[in-house]
Amino acid sequence: MKLKMMYSFLNADIGLIEKELEATVQAEHPLLRQAGVELLQAGGKRLRPVFVLLAGKFGEYDINRIKHVAVALELIHMASLVHDDVIDNAELRRGRQTIKAKYDNKIAMYTGDFLFARALALMTKLENPVAHKILSHTMVELCIGEIEQIKDKYNFNQDLRTYLRRIKRKTALLIAVSCQLGAIGANASEDIQKKLYLFGYYVGMSFQITDDILDFTATEEQLGKPAGSDLLQGNITLPVLLALKNLEIRESISAITKDSTESDIRPIIDMIKTSSSIEKSFELSNLYLNKAFKILEELPNNKTKTALNNIAKFIGKRKF
Ligand code: IPE
Ligand code: IPE
Ligand code: MG
Ligand code: MG
Ligand code: MG
Repeated sequence: MKLKMMYSFLNADIGLIEKELEATVQAEHPLLRQAGVELLQAGGKRLRPVFVLLAGKFGEYDINRIKHVAVALELIHMASLVHDDVIDNAELRRGRQTIKAKYDNKIAMYTGDFLFARALALMTKLENPVAHKILSHTMVELCIGEIEQIKDKYNFNQDLRTYLRRIKRKTALLIAVSCQLGAIGANASEDIQKKLYLFGYYVGMSFQITDDILDFTATEEQLGKPAGSDLLQGNITLPVLLALKNLEIRESISAITKDSTESDIRPIIDMIKTSSSIEKSFELSNLYLNKAFKILEELPNNKTKTALNNIAKFIGKRKF
């Protein structure tokens, strides 16, 4: 089943979110406007707003209230991508040139900040200090996750816990909070809020693990962003961490430095790709997904729960 078909009952509302996103990226300054509009038009899965809306369905769903939260979460995600592409030195995003490649790092800094600011303005429509606190905490954690990743580049002695803490911060929390804020925005019970948060957290962990696997196994065409670039940039992700346990591969991997060339690293990427570490990475991704499915069992049966279930399955097998 196609991702969009999994929540087709939300089509009208997703259409509204798309319109609101377009309206929100309109800036007075032509360059900021152009950068925002281009990034939006390039597509993307819109997973975070979808999670906001689906979570809202477990409470008193009012699209005119919850839409602000959904749009804000996609904007924060987009901003983090614009900044991430500076950090990762990436040329391609959503099948198009990144802001940093098309313009430069300075423009990308302020485009990201602009998107963050727009998100904050929208969130004020939710007059709930707890929601704002949750969101700002998440943004702080996201920054720490990205900074820790820079610090841990080329560190081949980091352990699994370091990796898991990092992907929690940079990715899983934002997905967890998308679910949580959707529930809060719809006045769902605290019990439901907590369960949806946990569901989002587990799905988010699996999401980043699959992203890190795809960086090895997928192509640039499939992803709309560079493949193989994590190791080229010195980022140690799960497939690398697991491959380091194999002494033969370990020797090659740990010889990588920031002065290694692409032709030094490509053969090592191929070694990792064909090693059992990809399969083992999927095992950990599935472990998290199973935790997500377990949480869903505790939620009331309805088509929203079926949609969440299907999206979680999609994440486990995704190709983009
Ligand atoms: C990319 O997120 C960044 C990660 C957290 C791995 P997505 O894969 O959701 O990006 P888009 O929005 O679909 O482009
Ligand atoms: C996710 O990590 C980045 C953020 C959460 C901002 P990646 O650096 O792996 O994301 P992609 O692969 O560039 O989308
Ligand atoms: Mg990154
Ligand atoms: Mg990146
Ligand atoms: Mg990635």
